[in-house]
Amino acid sequence: MKARFAPGSPLRGSLAAPPDKSISHRAALFGAMSEEPVHVTGYLDAADTRSTLAAVAALGARVQERGRGELVIAGVGLRGAARAATIDVGNAGTLLRLLPGWLAGQPGGAWTLDGDASIRRRPVDRIARPLAAMGAALEAREDRFPPLSIAARPLAGIAYDLPVASAQIKSCVLVAGLLAEGKTTVREPEPSRDHTERLLARAGAPVSRDGACVTVRGVDTVTIDAVHVPGDPSSAAFHAAAAVLVPGSRIAIEGMAANWTRVGFFRILQRMGAAVAGPLEEREAAAPDHEPVCSLEVTHGPLRGTTVTPDEVPLAIDELPLVALLGCFAEGETVVQGAQELRVKESDRIATVVEGLRGLGADIEATDDGFAVRGTGGLRGGAIRAHGDHRLAMLGAVAGLASRGGVDVDGMEAAAVSYPGFAGDLAGLTRG
Ligand code: S3P
Repeated sequence: MKARFAPGSPLRGSLAAPPDKSISHRAALFGAMSEEPVHVTGYLDAADTRSTLAAVAALGARVQERGRGELVIAGVGLRGAARAATIDVGNAGTLLRLLPGWLAGQPGGAWTLDGDASIRRRPVDRIARPLAAMGAALEAREDRFPPLSIAARPLAGIAYDLPVASAQIKSCVLVAGLLAEGKTTVREPEPSRDHTERLLARAGAPVSRDGACVTVRGVDTVTIDAVHVPGDPSSAAFHAAAAVLVPGSRIAIEGMAANWTRVGFFRILQRMGAAVAGPLEEREAAAPDHEPVCSLEVTHGPLRGTTVTPDEVPLAIDELPLVALLGCFAEGETVVQGAQELRVKESDRIATVVEGLRGLGADIEATDDGFAVRGTGGLRGGAIRAHGDHRLAMLGAVAGLASRGGVDVDGMEAAAVSYPGFAGDLAGLTRG
């Protein structure tokens, strides 16, 4: 589907950030593992998180949808998943990486996970390696890509040094640790999103952190009563970027997750000189195992270039394409370093962002581990292809509003993977 986004009115008014994708996936998974029915509110209704509901249903959980993001999930318990299934993860990398952690420790079970063309390019050796070290038997195409087959075995805890700062690998190993004998420790090279750790604590699992290491012990059961999913900073980031770039804009973003492992992009925005007002820390968290929430006000203003360093990358990983776009409008150079993980996202986001923005007039080049952009005061506009990547489609839309001549986005339907209401919400803000 082609869609055109052209410069026009400033963005005004307020936006309820759409539900968080990462936390929604985890809520469904923990609901399926739980002994007691779990009441979920604010669940994201998007293609990715629908794939997760279908997956847990295929494994025996009963999902009752009550509308407006309210669900009751009657799970099968920690070791009660249906012993065979072929799971279609669609486009959902998080489902592809987290689910095997739960399945691998349920002896007698054998499952296959597969998905769309993009999923078939996402590496799974990163989870197969630690799960095999714990005792499971896994097979992947070319030892690296889906389809991924899992034959469960009794698992033993391990101490695992993550080769990359990835919340998906960390979560997979920690969930497998719940079903393993003894203790499982994961060491992260840099902090990454910690939603799984928080949910583990809420589920009564013995989880602890010591510096860069997270440890969990095997248990018989987990129980969670309720999960509320806050707004997604990675989705709200698109509107925030549009407000910063379109003259005369001033918007409020309400109900956004303020977990410090997720708001790195907003810290980068502030460093670039953008007026982002509001608490970006965990002030409103009811307890360390809950997710804090904040409201922000974002106003149009001039930007200066910045360097995003490798330690910041996991905390803003999905928003780095937007940093490239902002860099086009900033004074001086904007550089992203240490972001080679972008090459294995829904598309090769170093290649697709550089090609896409260059086609709109940007002075940008790819590096091995990121990109470098020279600000030229704006963007001409033109056409951009989404390559089936939801974040690239939304990037094109924001670029269109901020450009001089407008942008045609080819493949706008990809936005439905994480944010089906994106174009409507953006249009709502430009109507004030
Ligand atoms: C996610 C972790 C990140 C992120 C993805 C969601 C998660 O991936 O890019 O969109 O929910 O754990 P990696 O862990 O592979 O960096």
